[in-house]
Amino acid sequence: MEDFSYHRPVLSTETIELLALRPGSLVVDATCGGGGHTEAILQTGAAVLALDQDPDAIEFATARLTNFGRRLTLRRANFRDVAQVLDALGIAQIGGALLDLGVSSRQLENAERGFSLIRNGPLDMRMDPRQELTAAEVVNTYSEEQLTQIFREFGEEPAARRIASQLVKLRKEEPFRETLVLAKAIEKIVGRHGRRHPATQVFQALRVEVNGEFEALESALPGLTNRLEPGSRIAVITFHSLEDRIVKNFFRDRSRQFIDRPEWPEPRPNPDFMLEIVTPKPIEPDLIEQRTNPRSRSARLRVAQRIG
Ligand SMILES: C[S@@+](CC[C@H](N)C(=O)[O-])C[C@H]1O[C@@H](n2cnc3c(N)ncnc32)[C@H](O)[C@@H]1O
Repeated sequence: MEDFSYHRPVLSTETIELLALRPGSLVVDATCGGGGHTEAILQTGAAVLALDQDPDAIEFATARLTNFGRRLTLRRANFRDVAQVLDALGIAQIGGALLDLGVSSRQLENAERGFSLIRNGPLDMRMDPRQELTAAEVVNTYSEEQLTQIFREFGEEPAARRIASQLVKLRKEEPFRETLVLAKAIEKIVGRHGRRHPATQVFQALRVEVNGEFEALESALPGLTNRLEPGSRIAVITFHSLEDRIVKNFFRDRSRQFIDRPEWPEPRPNPDFMLEIVTPKPIEPDLIEQRTNPRSRSARLRVAQRIG
């Protein structure tokens, strides 16, 4: 049997240091995965509420972290619903929050989950197996226009239109069902340039669409920061520029004391002002981590602190 184990958590030392946790505080790890960051947070003496929408992650982390007893609460939930989860547990304020976005190496390496460009599996890509929309559904039923838009906006794929139009023709002959068939079809359409697989950006776009990743992030950021106690922090690790931009803009918008518009005679107080930026530039993994953990290479960590 293959071992789809979780790898080392990315930027773990930097994340723990920058979260500046107080012992006894309650931290929300909204992306539990294999529980690597959760464990590092628990080791500081803090309590953790860990969320993941993937039942496999919750099962794995429950078994791994059983020693921490009642200091750890695990919930299967989408982080876009974090406010409801906190309300259901009667938690008004939290002492820190972490989002380590994207898929885990365990999800990526298990061909059956359909995320991989190099291991054949069903075109699935759902992090939450309860949901209905799969990557196959997107590729085989969305219009050429919709596919072009997704590839462009969620994958920054320069050949979005060409790929979409060819895929729409090809799927009439035979619907796409497997990851490698799709990856090879894209390679045939755009050719191979450089070291990256030519289907990387389309696969990213499909994953973002299937899992509603940007909407979930846009809900989770205010959902978590609204609950931070004054002086406590939120840390977000992203793996591509589109995600990083959402986080950067959110932190910027919430850290401006005043806002100005051309039609206003003078700047006005920003009603959303609640954060101070801790990392003006995102933190990247050092060379040792990049070398020993390839998944970390594109990681960027941003941290902000609740004012007051
Ligand atoms: C990069 S992994 C986290 C790895 C983890 N920090 C560790 O140390 O093992 C991201 C995890 O977040 C989960 N995830 C992604 N989007 C989610 C969402 N909207 N709601 C809940 N969990 C999500 C994925 O299922 C995956 O297990």
